[in-house]
Amino acid sequence: MQLQRANNVADLRTQARRKLPHPIFEYLEGGADDEVSLSRNSAAFRELELLPDVLVDVSSVRTETTIFGQPCRWPLMLSPTGLTRMFHGHAELAVARAAARHGLPYCLSTMGTTRLEELGQAGSGPKLFQIYIFKDRGLTAEFVARCKDAGYHGLVLTVDTPVAGNRERDRASGLSLPPRLTLSSLLSFALHPSWSLQALTGSKFDLANVSHRVDALAAGPMSLFDYIGGQFDRAVTWRDLEWLAAEWNGPLAIKGVMTPADAEQSINCGATGVILSNHGGRQLDGAPAPADQISAVRARIGDGPDVICDGGVRRGSDVVKALALGATACSIGRPYIYGLAAGGEAGVDRVLSLLFEEFERTMTLAGVPDIAALGQRHVRRRS
Ligand code: FNR
Repeated sequence: MQLQRANNVADLRTQARRKLPHPIFEYLEGGADDEVSLSRNSAAFRELELLPDVLVDVSSVRTETTIFGQPCRWPLMLSPTGLTRMFHGHAELAVARAAARHGLPYCLSTMGTTRLEELGQAGSGPKLFQIYIFKDRGLTAEFVARCKDAGYHGLVLTVDTPVAGNRERDRASGLSLPPRLTLSSLLSFALHPSWSLQALTGSKFDLANVSHRVDALAAGPMSLFDYIGGQFDRAVTWRDLEWLAAEWNGPLAIKGVMTPADAEQSINCGATGVILSNHGGRQLDGAPAPADQISAVRARIGDGPDVICDGGVRRGSDVVKALALGATACSIGRPYIYGLAAGGEAGVDRVLSLLFEEFERTMTLAGVPDIAALGQRHVRRRS
């Protein structure tokens, strides 16, 4: 089977590229402006060297940990991605089931295409919900209440999106919602008939968690996007975080934090962890790679809070490096979507298996039998 022939994330990316119409693949791949942050996210890992311990008994490797209080098989989680149905008809449910099978937390996006209540029942893994503080605080409070009712284990507040980043690839490829039929996009959709048929018959662009807020869904996906786009609030501040933390009263991570000072303020305002992230290079271009911020953030906030490194992870060895620098875990976005696009739930399974094998092998080769033993002495920046 095709998936079994994929030896790594890059191979699955190649398969995803073949399956998706060009504008959809570009939407997945793209970053903001000149994509400087996007390319640095992965480059930062390549600049790090691993310093192995030798003559250590590594006949077994302990990889289990907790992320936001939830037990996990190894230190990885799956980041929120909007409009997941665009990449495969089984969408978020396929991702959540695969994540649960691998004992990893999955975070559903507010912009997801599956209702959070439906996802809450999929598989037995830890479930997180990614939330925004909207202009209408009532909408945010409604999400909090729904997440409590549906048994979510934690909330992830994304704070790097006061406005959408400048994604020039989407304009160049003609991606709009619904897709605009330019000559080249028409050709690309025609070359991917099974995808296009699904898009026409299914509801690929339905923001399932907010659609009830828009009376006239019949008016089409644009009205939904207009509604949610109008809800983004540039005036959100730390005060609002305090409000959300009190409202939720459970594990709460702030996603999009980049500096030690903001990490500290997040914890002081009621967060239980931070997700170092530049949104996969899709928001502020020029923001540093999350991997480069781990040590300084950990030094500032101490051992207690979770610090997740999100962006650029393409190998299990990247996770080992992040942990050595002081991260609790890493998070992935595009890699699991490559798997989803390539082969649905089985494709996500394949990505997670490959990354785990790489992680465990790297730990063994580095002579570290327990993730708790990983430390700064195992990693250095290439001079
Ligand atoms: C994202 N990301 C994102 N983040 C978020 O907080 N809410 C969202 O709805 C989305 N949507 C989204 C869609 C797509 C297609 C991508 C690629 C990314 C960002 C995501 O959670 C994560 O931060 C990055 O994907 C991590 O970088 P890598 O792993 O893709 O390099």
